[in-house]
Amino acid sequence: MVSRVIPVDPFDLVIFGATGDLARRKILPGLFRRFCSGQMPEAARIIGAARSEMDDAGFRQMVREAIAEFGGGQACEDGTLDDFLSMIGYEHVDAMGDGGWEQLKGRLRPDMVRAFYFSVAPSLFGALAERLRGFGLADDDSRVVVEKPFGKDLESARALNQTLAEHFDETQIYRIDHYLGKETVQNLMAVRFGNMLFEPLWNAQYVDHIQITVAETVDVSGRGAYYDKSGAMRDMVQNHLMQLLCLIAMEPPARFEPDAVRDEKLKVIRALDPVDWHHIVRGQYGPDEKQAGYRSHVEDPRSTTESFVAMKVGVSNWRWAGTPFYLRTGKALKARASEIAVVFKDAPHSIFGPEAGRHANVLSIRLQPNEGMNLGVTIKEPGPGGMRLKDVALDMTFADALGPDAEDIPDAYERLIMDVIRGNQTLFMRGDEVEAAWSWTDPIIEGWKRRGDVPKEYEAGSNGPEDALMLMHRDGRKWRDIRV
Ligand code: BG6
Repeated sequence: MVSRVIPVDPFDLVIFGATGDLARRKILPGLFRRFCSGQMPEAARIIGAARSEMDDAGFRQMVREAIAEFGGGQACEDGTLDDFLSMIGYEHVDAMGDGGWEQLKGRLRPDMVRAFYFSVAPSLFGALAERLRGFGLADDDSRVVVEKPFGKDLESARALNQTLAEHFDETQIYRIDHYLGKETVQNLMAVRFGNMLFEPLWNAQYVDHIQITVAETVDVSGRGAYYDKSGAMRDMVQNHLMQLLCLIAMEPPARFEPDAVRDEKLKVIRALDPVDWHHIVRGQYGPDEKQAGYRSHVEDPRSTTESFVAMKVGVSNWRWAGTPFYLRTGKALKARASEIAVVFKDAPHSIFGPEAGRHANVLSIRLQPNEGMNLGVTIKEPGPGGMRLKDVALDMTFADALGPDAEDIPDAYERLIMDVIRGNQTLFMRGDEVEAAWSWTDPIIEGWKRRGDVPKEYEAGSNGPEDALMLMHRDGRKWRDIRV
């Protein structure tokens, strides 16, 4: 058990869509781990709500199996699972009708933090919000948690925001982007704003360019129906990569408080240049000896949805004008590796002469796996033979630097759910942020459609399409290796 864990207040959490994939994989095992860590008080209650007819015992059994399958964490002692399950109940609720709502209301306790997690399709958000208010389950202190995809374009995102706003105030709405809950993503802010070392150099004068890579080995099999309508741009860039870019590029907020942070992120999104046609590469993985290609994983054998995107993006503001941001993400790539690399400029003049070569410092922040940071610095190659320079890494892999503490790092969902209970919106997207992100993304997607763009094929298990390499080469730069 981690001693620094501060328990949250007792709460009632209702999970709509409690029998679904996300609840079983992430939400319920995550809550169990928070319980084991001592953060979740015994007086908390979790109520699953879904269409399936089930009683408390049936749902508890489902939760038991989900935890067995998707991990209960190491910190859990024997017997803890039964204590956790005793806090859980289930109500069969009809999202589009009246069935089950009075019973669900009967389970909620007065004077408790109340949160409602919408782990359901966005088309149900409106119906749920209306019934929560209509049946008197939610009041002005209750919170609602919504998942991505938050719309598929600006228009649908606006409509969702409006629907939620009819029933809840913005301060009650928690839009999840699970990347914001990742430990290293928050560390990015700690590094930038907790040290004197980096911030003075964090601008176009000293930074040559920034690379953001979220590479995955998984393909889209099993979720082709969703993915084929979405593609990498909507599934990853509009949200996760955009959030990473914002945290890297934003001005220091005055305080680490929800609106102070979100105001700064919004300014970054609004400063993004429209992406130049020649600065974006779409890809789709083809087959290799080991796996089938994208088109075998989706219904449409001629699908032109992208499973890979690489792009060069400009941020037109005082701090960043002239420093490009290169983003790339894709499925079925050669390694699962997510990294942000801040590549500094070369020293303005080499006192060691041309034979010493050119050396640039790189600060790399690894999101996963092997979370940590690494600062490339230039030193003298040891031994005689003159002044030969060499790049070495000041490596801070969290598992090494933090020892056992690194093992107790909560998963993104665990942390975010606890933040909902605490009423802290800092790591959640505000409605205007989501809309601004779609405003930037929509013209790119519309452009592809208008031009009948066909993605470049890349081999599954590779680095992505050749054209993505060219995107950098043309600028005399190079992607960092995708490796674990
Ligand atoms: C999800 C996307 O939001 O994030 C998935 O829908 C993607 O396609 C996943 O695989 C990546 O999350 P993580 O935490 O595994 O990097």
